[in-house]
Amino acid sequence: MMGATTLPRARDIITGQTLPIPDLLTGEMVNGQRVFDLTIQQGTMAFVSSQQTPTFGYNGQILGPTLVMNKGDEVVINVTNHLGEPTTTHWHGLHLPAVMDGGPHQRIEDGQTWQANFTIMNEAATFWYHPHLEGKTAEHVYHGLAGLFIVKDEATDQLAIPQQYGVDDIPLIIQDKIFNADGSLNYPGTDEGVKGDNILVNGAITPVLEAPAQMVRFRLLAGSNARIFNFGFSDNRQFHQIGTDGGLLEAPVPLTRLMLATGERAEILVNFAADENQEIRLLSYSSELGNIDPFWARDSLDKTTFDVLTIKVRAANQNAVTRLPDSLVTIARLDESQVDVTRTFKLQMVSFRINGQSMDLNRIDETIALNDIEIWEITNNSPMAHPFHVHDIQFLILTRNGSPPPENERGWKDVVLVRPQETVRFIAHFSEFADPNTPYMYHCHILEHEDAGMMGQFVVV
Ligand code: C2O
Ligand code: CU
Ligand code: CU
Repeated sequence: MMGATTLPRARDIITGQTLPIPDLLTGEMVNGQRVFDLTIQQGTMAFVSSQQTPTFGYNGQILGPTLVMNKGDEVVINVTNHLGEPTTTHWHGLHLPAVMDGGPHQRIEDGQTWQANFTIMNEAATFWYHPHLEGKTAEHVYHGLAGLFIVKDEATDQLAIPQQYGVDDIPLIIQDKIFNADGSLNYPGTDEGVKGDNILVNGAITPVLEAPAQMVRFRLLAGSNARIFNFGFSDNRQFHQIGTDGGLLEAPVPLTRLMLATGERAEILVNFAADENQEIRLLSYSSELGNIDPFWARDSLDKTTFDVLTIKVRAANQNAVTRLPDSLVTIARLDESQVDVTRTFKLQMVSFRINGQSMDLNRIDETIALNDIEIWEITNNSPMAHPFHVHDIQFLILTRNGSPPPENERGWKDVVLVRPQETVRFIAHFSEFADPNTPYMYHCHILEHEDAGMMGQFVVV
């Protein structure tokens, strides 16, 4: 990895711009397939006064369009790489064949187009796409490559919850970056994980959203390289979580704080009906995170409360959603008595290993029989919290150190934060896609840990 640079940090940071809303792409229907085109390219952004910041983006300067699709759709995504170097594009959270996953084995050389083609089998939820080249994921994401997927389904479309993208259904991709005085991104590449001192939402630094005085749905993605967020509002108001990584919860869960580690998503409802002309800020109450990270991995923002987004509440729209639904969806819970195999995974910080092994593209670590229901037990005896992610599946958390998870974690997940000295058990069904030749990944979603080798491979046969 690159060593820390000593360039002076930028002081004239441009903040307070209007929150950008990523373009919504519904694709083009061709022979019954929904076709999307993504081009990975270099760009520039204005983050520092009178300077340009070189960035990477999908179809634009930074981040990428939001791809929207329905459960059951057959999609084709053509990904063209004009980055000037190889990369990949992974569909984080989607259940699909391993050759379509976009992991480190599906390299896209510079100038080439990779075509991914699969059927959407997931429930309605918010997913994301990002590079996954071995050893390069962290740098590629940090420079701007990430975008959202919104999967819709009939059950969710019929719920009386906000559904108007960019109006009362707002995506928030939250990241953190460091800028040099010449405007360029500073990527120190430190192994413990890169944390920036500027918070970006949808590619703008601590921006402003004008929101209607009604129930608003936010789709949050913790898209940071390493930072764990502890979201809450400036007036400590209650809000409700309605969705986890891979689906909606059974009922809204009231919260005043929501912790999200890198890779995790959550959908929340916030009622601004009584707030017209008020200003409310979305914050990260990071000093309340406690000892999830040791002193050397905690930066100054981790010891404070900091701004993420300023919300200026304006008049409500007509036909606004005004009340919270009592229930959302039914979750088909997997039965522990049907478990075929239990596996254990030990997370180690010393040279970034899982079960004593460092990532090797030529080694298969786990072989899973198609259609098995498995319990995975993830133990963290390191001093730092690690968000553990598995490709292909959505899982349900059974226990955290022997106790049931909090209410807002009782939905489909593909990333789970495992705290120091914690064991998390989850259950999953490895269905539909077998391929002895192409593995899926499991890894720590702190991108620098993943790149340093905290990743393994499994095949379903
Ligand atoms: Cu979001 Cu294997 O990654
Ligand atoms: Cu993934
Ligand atoms: Cu880690």
